[in-house]
Amino acid sequence: MNPEAARLERIGRLIREEMDAAGGTIPFVRFMEAALYTPGDGYYEHDAARVGIRGDFYTSVSVGPLFGELLAFQFLEWAEAADETTVQWVEAGAHDGRLAADILGWIGDHRPAWRHRIRYVICEPSPVRRRWQEERLAPFAGCVEWTDTLPETRGVIFSNELLDAFPLERFGWDGETRVWFRWGVGRSGPGFAWCRMPMPEELCGFLPDLPTALLDVLPDGFTWECSPIAERWWSAAAQALRQGWLVSFDYGLTEMEFFTPGRTQGTLRGYRSHRHVEDVLADPGAADLTANVNFTRLEWVGEAAGLTTTGLAEQRQFLTRVMSRTLTTEADFGEWTQPRVRQFQTLTHPQHLGRSFRVLVQGRGVATASSDIGNPGG
Ligand SMILES: C[S@@+](CC[C@H](N)C(=O)[O-])C[C@H]1O[C@@H](n2cnc3c(N)ncnc32)[C@H](O)[C@@H]1O
Repeated sequence: MNPEAARLERIGRLIREEMDAAGGTIPFVRFMEAALYTPGDGYYEHDAARVGIRGDFYTSVSVGPLFGELLAFQFLEWAEAADETTVQWVEAGAHDGRLAADILGWIGDHRPAWRHRIRYVICEPSPVRRRWQEERLAPFAGCVEWTDTLPETRGVIFSNELLDAFPLERFGWDGETRVWFRWGVGRSGPGFAWCRMPMPEELCGFLPDLPTALLDVLPDGFTWECSPIAERWWSAAAQALRQGWLVSFDYGLTEMEFFTPGRTQGTLRGYRSHRHVEDVLADPGAADLTANVNFTRLEWVGEAAGLTTTGLAEQRQFLTRVMSRTLTTEADFGEWTQPRVRQFQTLTHPQHLGRSFRVLVQGRGVATASSDIGNPGG
């Protein structure tokens, strides 16, 4: 058996054993966790090249260095406006360290005076991914620290496509009994199939508070997702932030956008070689599994931890505002070369990454208006 088949076989066996021990069914959230994060074997644990043009899907980081360069420019503007002489930038979900390299590379080239005034911390619980990051960031040795838990921060805590990679719960509506159930997964021949599981008490707080008129028309099996793990992470990040900004770039929706007539099966999907996979339960560990982030719930969680929501903008609005600042301020950004212009188009075009990706910015002890992050409605 080749190593890839053996890896998938081990993940499949682990899942089947857990199902047998649990009496036949496990919650989808556990299935997704095993598929993506089983130590040594999970989708995100064994091959750094999964993300990128030659992998299964690409992100704003894989488009080129411009995304990181624009973030570095914006983060420095925030630091300078707050009159800070040293700052902490904490990145989570750094994968192979490419975004950190883009940010630190730009600082070295365009703001060398800041090089030793930025404490760049990567929050990485996986030893495997940390090794990938250390390799890529070898040229920046001494400028980057690692931690496996979020440190108390004065500056920026940020991530790109981290929250949409957290294991998630899928909830379904039983039209007959008019109650929500939890989607689980059980065995079906040599593969896996969806099953309905009862809703545990501890998850009831995550259910949406929908008006009766809407519940009356929800079709049986209507499905939506939320990630208690992502919400707990956001809450921990909000509490760790002593002063500054908490920033997440992700594809996502507001709570009410999940409940539109065209979205009856939720937003869960899988990617393999830049294509949607047909059956997200087939071959766990072979494809990326992901779903839209619920930004409304993240806003609540951050605000409950004392943060103020600066805004939720589309990526194109946020990056266009930063780009226009690079043209109108005297601060050096570097020339807008052809490759940079092409990357900017991909990052902001509504049919590429510009509209479906959004950025949520919350802050503590900062004075930033919604329009400052490019949200025209703010
Ligand atoms: C979709 S990838 C995005 C990678 C990179 N930020 C980019 O934009 O190209 C999500 C990454 O988050 C990582 N991840 C998942 N849970 C994490 C956690 N609790 N802390 C840090 N990283 C995590 C995954 O392993 C994966 O490397």
